[in-house]
Amino acid sequence: MAFPIHRPRRLRRSAVLRDMVRETTLEPSDFIYPLFVVDGRDVRRPIASMPGIFNLSIEHAVAEAKQAKALGVPSVILFGIPDQKDGRGTQGYARDGIVQRAIRAIKEAVPELQVIADVCLCEYTDHGHCGVLEGDHVANDATLPLLAQMAVTCAQAGADIIAPSDMMDGRIAALRRSMDEAHLVDTPILSYAVKYASGFYGPFREAAQSTPQFGDRRGYQMDPANAREALKELRLDLDEGADMVMVKPALSYLDIIHRVKEHCQVPVVAYNVSGEYAMVKAAAQNGWVDGNRVMMEILTSIKRAGADLIITYHALEASKLL
Ligand code: PBG
Repeated sequence: MAFPIHRPRRLRRSAVLRDMVRETTLEPSDFIYPLFVVDGRDVRRPIASMPGIFNLSIEHAVAEAKQAKALGVPSVILFGIPDQKDGRGTQGYARDGIVQRAIRAIKEAVPELQVIADVCLCEYTDHGHCGVLEGDHVANDATLPLLAQMAVTCAQAGADIIAPSDMMDGRIAALRRSMDEAHLVDTPILSYAVKYASGFYGPFREAAQSTPQFGDRRGYQMDPANAREALKELRLDLDEGADMVMVKPALSYLDIIHRVKEHCQVPVVAYNVSGEYAMVKAAAQNGWVDGNRVMMEILTSIKRAGADLIITYHALEASKLL
């Protein structure tokens, strides 16, 4: 018998055959598209470190939402950037805050699109931390009612899903209780259960003007070196009532996505964050990589690792290619 017996290349001989045996495929319905909404009229301000992504006033955010829907992307996640910031992030939980108004406008224009509200104070506080301060300390328990208030006002404005990204302890239980008391029992919570203190959030902080004015987020976000702790965070959030869970960032944390998927029965979302997007764009602009090709490879790898849904700034361009 000819050597070798096993020839994996037999299944790679043609494009059709490769398509037939492909294990992971991407679809526009896998994606969630982030939008950065700002106050004002007719604003469509490019974010320098994220080519193709903009700060959008509400009417432009509605137009982007319509485009997402037309391309088959089922959902957007909203980040609000208010004109006025203060120590307590008041505009984050105001009934007529920027994100609450954006939710109403998008739900009115594109009712079928699932609108996810990111719930966190860092875009709304003048110090840029995700909660209120006691001295230099981000106060956990004093922050919870404010986050809960933000969740309630966003859900009342029409948000389909509430996604807390602050990493305070006990927040899922606090949000669930307040939402239930406000008769929002049917609004699911997508917890940023496993969120690392990552350098890959740099461009987002430019987009959201949310860089901490002192210190960093290591006192509340996870240490990138820890994997077993991810399972602890996962268990706590599920016990507190999370309906879906997220791992963030995605690309340096594919092992974590895989473990989380194995350890729970709820949908797993991965956040392909701003720095991951910026690296692809920068390298492609220099002609160092084929941008479309590495984009698809990255998104496929995130899905292969176990993500059921991917939050990605590539959502629209990837959907156009699919
Ligand atoms: C808010 C929040 C951040 C991101 C999503 N929600 C920033 C942070 O934690 O500093 C980052 C998203 C990205 O980088 O694309 N807390």
